[in-house]
Amino acid sequence: MNQHVLRQRAEHQFLHELDALAAQDQKTKPPQWKLSPQAVVTYLLGGKLDNGVEITPKYIGHRRLMEIAVATLATDRALLLLGVPGTAKSWVSEHLAAAISGDSSLLVQGTAGTSEEALRYGWNYAMLLAKGPSAEALVPSPMLNAMKDGKIARVEELTRIPADVQDTLITLLSEKTLPVPELGSDFQAIKGFNVIATANNRDKGVNELSSALKRRFNTVILPVPDNLEEEISIVQNRVASLGKVLELPDSPPAIEQIRRVVTVFRELRSGVTEDKKAQLKMPSGTLSTAEAISVMSNGWALASHFGDGLMTAHDVAAGLMGAVLKDPVQDRVPWQEYLETVMKERDGWKDLYRACKALD
Ligand SMILES: Nc1ncnc2c1ncn2[C@@H]1O[C@H](COP(=O)(O)OP(=O)(O)OP(=O)(O)O)[C@@H](O)[C@H]1O
Ligand SMILES: [Mg+2]
Repeated sequence: MNQHVLRQRAEHQFLHELDALAAQDQKTKPPQWKLSPQAVVTYLLGGKLDNGVEITPKYIGHRRLMEIAVATLATDRALLLLGVPGTAKSWVSEHLAAAISGDSSLLVQGTAGTSEEALRYGWNYAMLLAKGPSAEALVPSPMLNAMKDGKIARVEELTRIPADVQDTLITLLSEKTLPVPELGSDFQAIKGFNVIATANNRDKGVNELSSALKRRFNTVILPVPDNLEEEISIVQNRVASLGKVLELPDSPPAIEQIRRVVTVFRELRSGVTEDKKAQLKMPSGTLSTAEAISVMSNGWALASHFGDGLMTAHDVAAGLMGAVLKDPVQDRVPWQEYLETVMKERDGWKDLYRACKALD
């Protein structure tokens, strides 16, 4: 494990937590699983173990959703995590794979250019030309590696993959077999193999899942955070741990700064103020929790490197404006309205109002 890696895989970053969970896990484990389903859920939601080890929460939200997701993976159905951008679909998928298989690296990124090879196998062409098709010349996809090792494979952004390529997954998921006609043989999945796919609500209609494929997945919808407090705690938690990884000096942003940014996001996202008194025009961007997290970590970096370490309204204003003004023309109207009717009038928000105005 290399300490200098910018972004450690979950199974490396949280190795001590996974080890501690495994050490005291008495419950039954499905074949090839590193942890029992209960321990996987504890890993995701956090908690204190009997041996005193603190498990940090990875997902903040409903326990039941995570129980359904984990239980699905213990059956012969695959798991589809669906939701609007920034609702932790990729994040949860990585942690599930890390906790269940100890390996979150078997990943296929879905794009319009994803080919069947990325889901099946390719060939080492030099070897193929020299010796013809052979087991050695075959280059397995992450999916095939997961089948061979009985692990979880991940498919990111499933609905961006062209429909005919998606259909490759049908046989794979129902027969748990990958035929290799060139060799006259096939690969049969080892117990423990399963698939987690993620898809974005916003891509709906791009390449709809065929109903045959849909039937092979259990869908879990990850919601946007229920309320202000929950969203604040997600942002606080993630900003603190990102800052640690990036080795940002000084202490993480004050909760009051986080509260204001998250409030702006929630109000503009829903088109109504938190007290439900005023309707607002909504900007075109998604204003996801993930973006609130980056506004805060940018602000923290600004304060640390160019300020006195204490985050001010000045440090969050630019990030905030960038997140709202996704379309510089269209989004100006809702932003201006928000500045003048909400921010300006709110107690204790004058500094933020002034900092945003100064950038305008
Ligand atoms: N409920 C939550 N609990 C913990 N972290 C969350 C939650 N919601 C969002 N996050 C954080 O938001 C960030 C972005 O999440 P992620 O990239 O997984 O989103 P996504 O749903 O895959 O978005 P996209 O559709 O854009 O791919 C992660 O750092 C994650 O920790
Ligand atoms: Mg994602």
